Amino acid sequence: MTFRKLLGIACCAVLTVACVPTASAAPAAQESRTPDVPYVPTPQAVVDEMLKLAQVKKGEVLYDLGSGDGRIVVTAAKKYGAKGTGIDINPERIREAQENARKAGVTDQVRFIEQDLFQTDLRDADVVTLYLLPSVNLKLRPKLQSDLKPGARVVSHSFDMGDWKPDKTVEVDGRKIYLWVIRKSN
Ligand SMILES: C[S@@+](CC[C@H](N)C(=O)[O-])C[C@H]1O[C@@H](n2cnc3c(N)ncnc32)[C@H](O)[C@@H]1O
Repeated sequence: MTFRKLLGIACCAVLTVACVPTASAAPAAQESRTPDVPYVPTPQAVVDEMLKLAQVKKGEVLYDLGSGDGRIVVTAAKKYGAKGTGIDINPERIREAQENARKAGVTDQVRFIEQDLFQTDLRDADVVTLYLLPSVNLKLRPKLQSDLKPGARVVSHSFDMGDWKPDKTVEVDGRKIYLWVIRKSN
């Protein structure tokens, strides 16, 4: 079974659980709500290609929305000298990412925040990386187009943005990577 099928199955399971009505009418606290996407890490070769495609430069500000174990943020800091922020709704992932940043010696360049990615202020971002799902990309698209400054780049592993055509698409080990550059008219 391919990775993408596995991710699809895992996501359906998450969505099914999330959609089952419960006896309690009280809304869950924001940080404890069900993740929109299950945790599946991006292979390092794909991480490297995503950062290359984004043309990350020293001192640029990068956000990984749904940052998992922090590998994209840590690599951007170590390899390109970027200032990275990882956002994840799962506190266990945040702890792992902080430990990985410590091991890589980049704690002064990165931070990891436990937060719902739809609440993140992206106005200072030069680069945003994503490995989410098609439906989540589409829900996030208006926020990316309104928050991000002209020249900012969005890079997504595996999933596109519907009819928002990418500026470039590359393939690594059978996985697609999409790049969009924000323009005044987006
Ligand atoms: C497919 S993994 C990608 C991890 C990492 N970006 C990578 O490429 O290796 C998706 C991550 O998004 C997180 N996530 C799911 N829904 C989220 C939400 N609403 N806000 C923040 N993080 C979320 C999950 O906990 C998981 O770690």
